[in-house]
Amino acid sequence: MTSNEAPSPAESRRGLPGDPCVMVIFGAGGDLTRRKLTPALYNLESSHLLSGNFAVVGITREGISTDEYRERVRRDLSEHATGDVDPKLAEQLVARFHYLGGDYLDPKTYVRLKALLVTLDADHGTRGNALCYLATPPDLFAYIVGHLGTSGLASEEEGRWRRVVIEKPFGTDLETAKALNRDIRRVLTESQIYRIDHYLGKETVQNIMVFRFANGIFEPIWNRRYIDHVQITVAETVGVEMRGRYYEQAGALKDMVPNHIFQLLSFTAMEPPISFEARAVRDEKAKVLHGVQPMSPEEILRRTVRGQYGNGVVDGREVAAYRSEPRVAPDSDTETFVGMKLFIDNWRWAEVPFYLRTGKRLAQRVTEIVIQFKKPPFVPFRGTAVQQIAADQLVLNIQPDEGISLRFQAKVPGPMVRMGQVDMEFGYARHFGSHPSTGYETLLYDCMIADATLFQRDDMVEAGWNIVDPILEVWNAVPSRAFPNYAAGSSGPKDADDLMTRDGRQWRSIDHDSGGRHRRDKDEARALRA
Ligand code: BG6
Repeated sequence: MTSNEAPSPAESRRGLPGDPCVMVIFGAGGDLTRRKLTPALYNLESSHLLSGNFAVVGITREGISTDEYRERVRRDLSEHATGDVDPKLAEQLVARFHYLGGDYLDPKTYVRLKALLVTLDADHGTRGNALCYLATPPDLFAYIVGHLGTSGLASEEEGRWRRVVIEKPFGTDLETAKALNRDIRRVLTESQIYRIDHYLGKETVQNIMVFRFANGIFEPIWNRRYIDHVQITVAETVGVEMRGRYYEQAGALKDMVPNHIFQLLSFTAMEPPISFEARAVRDEKAKVLHGVQPMSPEEILRRTVRGQYGNGVVDGREVAAYRSEPRVAPDSDTETFVGMKLFIDNWRWAEVPFYLRTGKRLAQRVTEIVIQFKKPPFVPFRGTAVQQIAADQLVLNIQPDEGISLRFQAKVPGPMVRMGQVDMEFGYARHFGSHPSTGYETLLYDCMIADATLFQRDDMVEAGWNIVDPILEVWNAVPSRAFPNYAAGSSGPKDADDLMTRDGRQWRSIDHDSGGRHRRDKDEARALRA
């Protein structure tokens, strides 16, 4: 925003409580509600960001009483709150929770919901506004939205608003994503739809834009002239846990790439938006995905890798192979790791490879974006011990050690000219203190103030699937015969390393020690001091 431009309506409301409204949660008995949504509402309440005229309706298929439901909410809060819970504040929030039992496919559920919203409007002064959160299995999304339409619950009359939050996965391929977009657009306008990706609720992900566009020093070198390549890693130590049934259908590619990883990719690669308003930001992000170079089947086979974990040791504990996880076929072909090399066809990024990887049961939990710069064109240290200079790296640590570090060369003290890599580090928690959150606070609040910047637009979702679909096709046609091909607790399959070494490059190690530093870095530092 330029200084003489008026702030957007949503922007000028930031920091003030959200609109009066009822949040209707479909799937109120599920994990997402218990672990994330309820604690996030508590955090919003304690930050005074919920309107005084706010209420929640939790819908599940069981028939329990509002008292029983509130008892569950208390329990969820005590188990999953991100910090200490103030009992008075918790009770204040719990008193806003109401329960509705009903089948999501039964039109009568919506008739009763409509009546309940009228009652709550009278009791809580919610002004007829409603935020419907679909925390249900994805195959119900279109049906629920359809029922919201036929029951009149989606219509915005008499100054009231109606918004719908849709969880991931949004479709299972391009065709189903398009069909879902079509179905919900029959009922809702795009401005009523909030397609959520919880990665956008992470402070460090939002900070990518601030880092790039609120500082003068990085943007001039953020391009193919100075950047050798970019690495995006989302490594997890968890396995599939109890989600085998879902994961067998999804696999790492669908589960993580068109959504979380492409969000990181588009923030990293986007052009500066003309403002931080939803439309401007989303236009630029969408362009990145549209610019991803299509791959031929041969290129897909060369530039993508997949993996599945076998037995191994994670965090000092022996863990089972993917094929032995609950609800997973003993001969499953589902990938739990994916790596790929993409190019973005535009002036800024032509010929700069973007290496992406994500996997479960890896050595460490780490999400980071590595910008590797080109080496200096000439090394003026003839006649010294310096033979080779390593490339400088800027690392955006998304989680768990949120921060930014710049790795560069420094002279090792002493009479000899010797060099070592050092890190200049900024740690979020160290600098700003730690503000534990579920990641859903900002997103829920943004829905309440109608700021869609951090939500996916229909074209972005479709552009993501457009990249992933051809990969799925080739993978389905040529199943991997080598599964399992990486040990739990390792850095992933050898193929992923080969993807890099073939290009004369290397992944940044994900092997951290408990202090959060890369083990390899420490070894290097020790070797240099010796
Ligand atoms: C979810 C995926 O969307 O994101 C999970 O379905 C994954 O498989 C999770 O574990 C990762 O989220 P986070 O916030 O823990 O990085």
